Amino acid sequence: MLSLSEVCKSYQEPDGSRLPILDVPELSVAAGEQVVLRGRSGCGKTTLLNCIAGLTSVDSGRIEIKGHDVVKLPEAARDRFRAKFIGFVFQTFNLLPAFSALENVLLGMTFTDQRADPQRAAELLKMVGLSHRLTHKPRALSVGEQQRVAVARALANKPVLLLADEPTANVDPAHQQQIIDLLRDACRQEGVAMLLVTHADEVANQFERIEYLEQVNRAAGVA
Ligand SMILES: Nc1ncnc2c1ncn2[C@@H]1O[C@H](COP(=O)(O)OP(=O)(O)O)[C@@H](O)[C@H]1O
Ligand SMILES: [Mg+2]
Repeated sequence: MLSLSEVCKSYQEPDGSRLPILDVPELSVAAGEQVVLRGRSGCGKTTLLNCIAGLTSVDSGRIEIKGHDVVKLPEAARDRFRAKFIGFVFQTFNLLPAFSALENVLLGMTFTDQRADPQRAAELLKMVGLSHRLTHKPRALSVGEQQRVAVARALANKPVLLLADEPTANVDPAHQQQIIDLLRDACRQEGVAMLLVTHADEVANQFERIEYLEQVNRAAGVA
């Protein structure tokens, strides 16, 4: 379902030279599979997720999702592809402060051809345990509740792949497990594959498959 081959990403340094960040010969995730991505700070985890999501362009290589090479898509088509097939949960939630929980989930739907579906948005918020908070804006929600809204938003378009970048790093320890359970159950229920970055052993150890980016990424030793 997701398949990377020979993906390279570098940044230009002020002196004009290139700083290699990613050099990934191969990485695949099957449909519905749940994979943890680990690695020390700065080894390229966020960059890798951003490249897979098409939020950052790569220098070369193939990133195939559902048989489409997202690297080859022009920017506008890539944005539509991302909206349709990929859900993203950020470390800092990225909810829009002026909008309610329900509206934030609905806004996750508006970039695709299908119409926003308030009933599905409400069902997703029910699934994350927030039926009683539909009209609350982010500042009136606890941190754990905000991340639960973000999980609902990431699933709004029934993606095939959910990318989660340290989704519990800013959630208090008492609610971390709840977010992880929620992500795993929701992805299982909806048949969504998941690639999740975490630093926490207790989170990573719950997954059958753990990939260490230092092993996957030949540039990790260089950067
Ligand atoms: N826009 C950028 N320009 C130059 N270097 C960058 C940029 N974004 C990230 N980097 C560098 O890329 C490396 C990987 O960053 P990142 O993917 O955020 O790592 P991780 O998420 O594993 O901590 C870091 O060394 C970082 O300094
Ligand atoms: Mg990161």
